[in-house]
Amino acid sequence: MGMEKAAKPFLQVFAGDPVWPPPIWLMRQAGRYLPEYRAVRAKAGDFITLCTTPELAADATLQPIRRYRFDAAILFSDILMVPWALGQGLDYREGEGPVLPPLRSVADIGSLKLERLASAIRPILQTVRVVRRGLADEGFASCSLIGFAGAPFTVACYMVEGGGSRDFAATRTMAHAQPMLFGQLMDLLTEATVRYLSAQIDAGAEAVMLFDTWAGILPPAQFRQHVTDPARAIRLRLKQFYPEVPVIGFPRLAGALIGDYVSATGIDGVGLDSGMELRFAKQVISTRTVMQGNLDPFALVAGGPALRREVASILNAAKGRPFVFNLGHGIVPQTPLEHVASLMEQVRAA
Ligand code: CP3
Repeated sequence: MGMEKAAKPFLQVFAGDPVWPPPIWLMRQAGRYLPEYRAVRAKAGDFITLCTTPELAADATLQPIRRYRFDAAILFSDILMVPWALGQGLDYREGEGPVLPPLRSVADIGSLKLERLASAIRPILQTVRVVRRGLADEGFASCSLIGFAGAPFTVACYMVEGGGSRDFAATRTMAHAQPMLFGQLMDLLTEATVRYLSAQIDAGAEAVMLFDTWAGILPPAQFRQHVTDPARAIRLRLKQFYPEVPVIGFPRLAGALIGDYVSATGIDGVGLDSGMELRFAKQVISTRTVMQGNLDPFALVAGGPALRREVASILNAAKGRPFVFNLGHGIVPQTPLEHVASLMEQVRAA
């Protein structure tokens, strides 16, 4: 289809074309390891202001592209902007991460308003438009733009718990003890996610990714119910309107359930965490599905021969398959800038 698609290696992989060296981008590529991010973050004052000020969020999105020329930009926002848009309070505290009023009762869940979503997400959609224009204007014609949302289960974890947690005990207990109530929350989040991702695509996102960071804490039956089934439902609804737009799932820590997740969802691409053995993944994932991953973020902190070895081993395992190079989880703030530059060199030379 036209020149545009042919010129974008990330989208070419999803179109089924053989592309080698593989396209590369990094989860959390806009973040605190970049001095220019720390500057725009300081200018915004607080994180939610950064996410809802299109010019600043677009700048944050483009920063890693300007520095490293990644093959994809990912919208600068956060998975918790959906609970924020539904009317749950949200605050990011220094050193503490996100804090929300915990959702525990029928009344708490009833206070979330799907009708608020469309107007609340307007500034985020404007960021998507500004980024698309920025990529074209700044000469990054080969860079694709990825939109994203948290997957319903992971978003529910933060909403029920009221923030991050070592074990998400309240959420996991609710899923077992109050399945109707938890199911109500999951249904609401599934609907919100479809609307949010559809709006991002309408605004110019060329692919979308569903982050299910905590998928792997569930036992298998609940994994199917709360991770695989919602991802399948979201994919099917998006495909009705946007059949050409790739949908990537990231069921982190899925382990042995990864093959079932891919075949049951029909997802176009799958993010693999650093614990996933690629030899195993290749056996259980269809050759038509794009695999994305899975360098350990701490190999990137370490740099040197350890980094070279890990990268070579991933490239070697992935060669011959539709593949997008990435980390197995987000880049961490202490990552040295030069290590990202050496990673780029090594992947570009593959
Ligand atoms: O560059 C990108 O990848 C795009 C932007 C992005 C952010 N968060 C920005 C962010 C994306 C895709 C996310 C996803 C996200 N957010 C996930 C799923 C992926 C993952 O990492 O597991 C989750 C679980 C969250 C929730 C969240 N947001 C937490 C737990 C925290 C605090 C921990 C931390 O790293 O600070 C955030 C804040 C956040 N989201 C920051 C950024 C750049 C740091 C905020 C700051 O500048 O202080």
